[in-house]
Amino acid sequence: MVEMEQVTLQPITEENEHECIHLKPREDQLDLVASNADSLKHAKKEITSKPYGIFAEDQMVGFILYDNEVYHDGYYWILRFMIDEKHQGKGYGKRAIQEVIRTLQYRRDCQQISVSHVPHNSAANALYKRCGFQDTGEFEDNGDTILSYQLGNREGA
Ligand SMILES: CC(C)(COP(=O)(O)OP(=O)(O)OC[C@H]1O[C@@H](n2cnc3c(N)ncnc32)[C@H](O)[C@@H]1OP(=O)(O)O)[C@@H](O)C(=O)NCCC(=O)NCCS
Repeated sequence: MVEMEQVTLQPITEENEHECIHLKPREDQLDLVASNADSLKHAKKEITSKPYGIFAEDQMVGFILYDNEVYHDGYYWILRFMIDEKHQGKGYGKRAIQEVIRTLQYRRDCQQISVSHVPHNSAANALYKRCGFQDTGEFEDNGDTILSYQLGNREGA
């Protein structure tokens, strides 16, 4: 059996920030997520959230910004999420989301994890559903589709 590479989430620091800013999705995916430079600026304003590098062993392969403390009424949000173009399709994205679920599922104040994506982002939609997220039927003001993971539902996690 082939041993699985370890996928971990590690905080973005002054030391690894540069590496993070250089990670990019494919050209045709640029409308699906903001640049990491923009997300790191955004992270400073969103006080409940914290930015993390997604690491496969020692290599930063992606970026995720998610709530590290409750945002509102039991909700934790995943605000930004991407895997660099060179590292897509290897299961890193799925394992990063599973890692977020694993981290948040024992927080007593966390009732659900929420995320949104632009309506035509079918890859992200499939990934979230594979991890146990479900459609809420709700949309952001800009039309983005909102999905949520209800704690207590461990399917796919
Ligand atoms: C979405 C994204 C994070 C997926 O990361 P990834 O590491 O390539 O995904 P994985 O290899 O872990 O794939 C996990 C699941 O996602 C789905 N998926 C991934 N890429 C897909 C594609 N091109 N088409 C359809 N489904 C796809 C599949 O269900 C897959 O599970 P499976 O292989 O078991 O069927 C990556 O494509 C990306 O960074 N896209 C641009 C930015 C973006 O859309 N971010 C999300 C904003 S909400």
